[in-house]
Amino acid sequence: MTAALFTPVQVGNMTLQHRVALAPMSRNRASVHGDPTDIMVKYYKQRATKGGLLISEAVSISATAGAYVQTPGLFKDTQVQKWKKVTETVHQQGGYIYCQLWHLGRTSTSALMGSQIVSASDIPIKGVPIQDIGGYTTDVYETPRPLTQPEIKTIVADFAQAAENAMAAGFDGVEIHGANGFLVDQFINSSSNNRTDDYGGSSANRARFALEITDAVVSRIGEEKTAIRLSPYGEFQDMNDDDRVGTFSYVTQQLQNKHPKLAYVHLVEARLDQDRSQTLAPFRAIWQGPMVVAGNYSEDYKEAYAQTEKHANTIIAIGRAFLANPDLVERIRNHWPLNKYDRDTFYAIGTLKGYADYPTYQQTMQA
Ligand SMILES: Cc1cc2nc3c(=O)[nH]c(=O)nc-3n(C[C@H](O)[C@H](O)[C@H](O)COP(=O)(O)O)c2cc1C
Repeated sequence: MTAALFTPVQVGNMTLQHRVALAPMSRNRASVHGDPTDIMVKYYKQRATKGGLLISEAVSISATAGAYVQTPGLFKDTQVQKWKKVTETVHQQGGYIYCQLWHLGRTSTSALMGSQIVSASDIPIKGVPIQDIGGYTTDVYETPRPLTQPEIKTIVADFAQAAENAMAAGFDGVEIHGANGFLVDQFINSSSNNRTDDYGGSSANRARFALEITDAVVSRIGEEKTAIRLSPYGEFQDMNDDDRVGTFSYVTQQLQNKHPKLAYVHLVEARLDQDRSQTLAPFRAIWQGPMVVAGNYSEDYKEAYAQTEKHANTIIAIGRAFLANPDLVERIRNHWPLNKYDRDTFYAIGTLKGYADYPTYQQTMQA
């Protein structure tokens, strides 16, 4: 009998032929202007499979959304044209590709932004900036300026415009980046939001920004082409919430009530070193549509088989193992061994090395 991992599943408008997806991963291989490059076309082409879903690296929604060094955007015509080369090559392989859209908020720098960084509140991230991703020149995170309500409305509109641009670039849909401590998550979590207006205080108020963005994107491109990523147990970039399960259950319930036909809800699992009682069960009990789950499957892909047997409508997004194995889907299907990933080249700016030069299993066998 075929394992559930390799059986079809309907996700939005797509009929996926298997349930191994590429997790979104920033790789700093765009041009200095934030345009997709030819090595990006090669990288995504290598990972595309018939009926398989790729989720792009995070893509800036506007010139003021922040960026890291050589990460891509989708707000200029040249970017739309260059992304088209990526989406066309993925479609030629019979694959699908969603575009992850982000605003960095307080994780960016004024040096890269040209103006003071922004967030829900004036609370900086504690600790030392992640030099390798950000290309930071300072050793402390900057203090952000709280966004005004008109600015919040502008950012909501920017997400909708970027979603429309993603459609023009040939993407199959968009994933709103509401995870990992970036702007949307900075609003949701109580550790980074002490606003006293409609966007702060209660879980409902802190979730408002995420839900307004979802509404705006849905009304522009449709529920079936819209998805959102959340990390209920995320601690990266100082994320914490007074009531993680309560807050993220509220967000999930609102999505279920208002947008039950979203393509998928994408949830990041707690890390293996976190409390094992932190499971996705409370959110699974609420969200009835397709669910993408990510985290820890790179270490043990047998879990991908196990989870998809247990849960219908589940798709497994894999990060580090997929960046190191262009033919990951075939390796998992055939139980072939995996290449090890090289952490030093995760964010190696502009280089092919450690990006589009990992061998397939067949290439290794022939060498
Ligand atoms: C190099 C790298 C870049 C990443 N960039 C992003 C990103 O742009 N957006 C995002 O939501 N998550 C990002 N992540 C997190 C991954 O999507 C994924 O959740 C994480 O790697 C855990 O999955 P894994 O254990 O299969 O690697 C990144 C992870 C890595 C390793």
